[in-house]
Amino acid sequence: MLLKHLAMALALFGSAGPAFGALQQADSVAPESGSAPVAQGVAVQAEQFMISAANPLAARVGYDVLNRGGHAMDAMVAVQAMLGLVEPQSSGLGGGAFLVYYDAATKTLTTFDGRETAPLNATPELFQNAQGESLKFFDAVVGGRSVGTPGTPKLMHAMHTRYGELDWSELLAPAIELAAEGFEVSPRLAASVAADKDRLSRYPDTARYFFHADGSPIAEGEILTNAEYSQTLTLMAQNGSDVIYKGEIGKAIVARVQSIEDNPGLLSEIDLASYQVKERPAVCVEYRQFEVCGMGPPSSGALTVGQILGVLNNFDLAQYGPEDPEAWQLIGEASRLAFADRGRYMADSDFVPMPQGLLDSDYLAQRAALIQPSKVMGAVPAGEPNWGKVVSVEYGLDDAIELPSTSHFSIVDGAGNIVSMTTTIENGFGSRVMSGGFLLNNELTDFSFSSYKDGQPIANRVEPGKRPRSSMSPTILFRDGEPYMAIGSPGGSRIIGYVVNALIAHIDWGLDIQQAVELPHLVNRFGTYDLEAGTSAESLQAPLEAMGYKVNVRDLNSGLHAVQISDTKLLGAADPRREGIALGE
Ligand code: GLY
Repeated sequence: MLLKHLAMALALFGSAGPAFGALQQADSVAPESGSAPVAQGVAVQAEQFMISAANPLAARVGYDVLNRGGHAMDAMVAVQAMLGLVEPQSSGLGGGAFLVYYDAATKTLTTFDGRETAPLNATPELFQNAQGESLKFFDAVVGGRSVGTPGTPKLMHAMHTRYGELDWSELLAPAIELAAEGFEVSPRLAASVAADKDRLSRYPDTARYFFHADGSPIAEGEILTNAEYSQTLTLMAQNGSDVIYKGEIGKAIVARVQSIEDNPGLLSEIDLASYQVKERPAVCVEYRQFEVCGMGPPSSGALTVGQILGVLNNFDLAQYGPEDPEAWQLIGEASRLAFADRGRYMADSDFVPMPQGLLDSDYLAQRAALIQPSKVMGAVPAGEPNWGKVVSVEYGLDDAIELPSTSHFSIVDGAGNIVSMTTTIENGFGSRVMSGGFLLNNELTDFSFSSYKDGQPIANRVEPGKRPRSSMSPTILFRDGEPYMAIGSPGGSRIIGYVVNALIAHIDWGLDIQQAVELPHLVNRFGTYDLEAGTSAESLQAPLEAMGYKVNVRDLNSGLHAVQISDTKLLGAADPRREGIALGE
């Protein structure tokens, strides 16, 4: 069955692998030295270790750490430090991250929450005007108001303290040096800067970094230095993340955020000093013969991925294949059902009660029974999951907007430890405010701007110290109790669909890991079916419209980076829609 559908998928998406029309192809980036295999449309195969990340320079430092016998967490530190330099629009020291970790020695799975927090001075009205109306999205994003307490530096340092095997300062050294010497601006960074000129030019220090004196944007291939970032990392190398949470870099961040004239923020030194990385149990769901595990609240990732897959457990997707609109009708409806629950119930459960039964198989079977054959459902309300021992609350519907951004990397080290980490400063270039050579996040706009809807409180409203709901879905799969795959993606709230699509492509339709990552996307969150422009997915427009869907053909810019694990080998996959590569040995 799986082979049959692999053949059908190849027929639909191209005989040499999925076809991608206008999509960017993977950069053919050779490693600087050594013989490491590199992903170029086929999965990279290796035996000892593997990394897949969104930028070749970042993947390369991760490879080097792993090649020196470093732990997956060592590689994570080096990769994140480098991403903050070479892919500054997506993640960095000014942002937050979620990390799912499998520890090979103890055979245990856990997760770490390095999500930003709302300042202690924030109120539910943070993104409302004097009349109680929601601000326009970018009026809220650009400036200090949207800046939450960064979590990434503390996550890096805490993970190294707990698991690291190589010297902390050595892990930061490659990014320190490259920031001082200059790196080659990638096509994606150059294009992103040019496209965001108006917002990026708003603050002179940010504009000075990304634009020349004549106002022209930094260009692809240009060498860009960042002495301030090099200095920040040097201080971190000497003193750990305390330079940000209790030291001079943090003081400068707070002063900058609070003093922005047109849109000041509330972040304070107390917010930084009290910030904590939280360890949380993984959230898992069974899908076919796999256990799919990821990040629970404040991320909606694992719960929403889990609900979609849990609903689809009630259908045989393998009988269809990726070219069949019937398959996408089921996937789209399962996704709409899950997003309805997400919009009502999912938020930072340290602050608001949440139903306990969101992944109960009986509940998801009831939700699956709402799906009608070959036909779009009308309105999709949230369900009535079991609250368990928690006192139930009537929540209003959330109106948070999440636009695509972010970065994901997957790492398997030589000892079998696995890191699946999604990392972000939220919007591309975050708040557009820079301090210490890095951009500060706008993560607080992942909260609902409204705090009440129809007289009911919204679970994901702003509250002091609370973490905004995320869609980030760093995932680790298990089969027969053994780790099988690490995967995740950027993409705002479409992250969830991108991860689900790749898992279904691999598990139900038998595509190999690289083909699964490359499969053209179809994503439905709230009713409209998004189809990936320039790909064979467009051929499903007419049949989906005939079922009653409104269809929107558009860029669907995932950045799936995955590693598959077997007894004998590792397979790495990188999404050709971005610039990433997989490297292994
Ligand atoms: N800001 C993107 C996310 O957390 O999902």
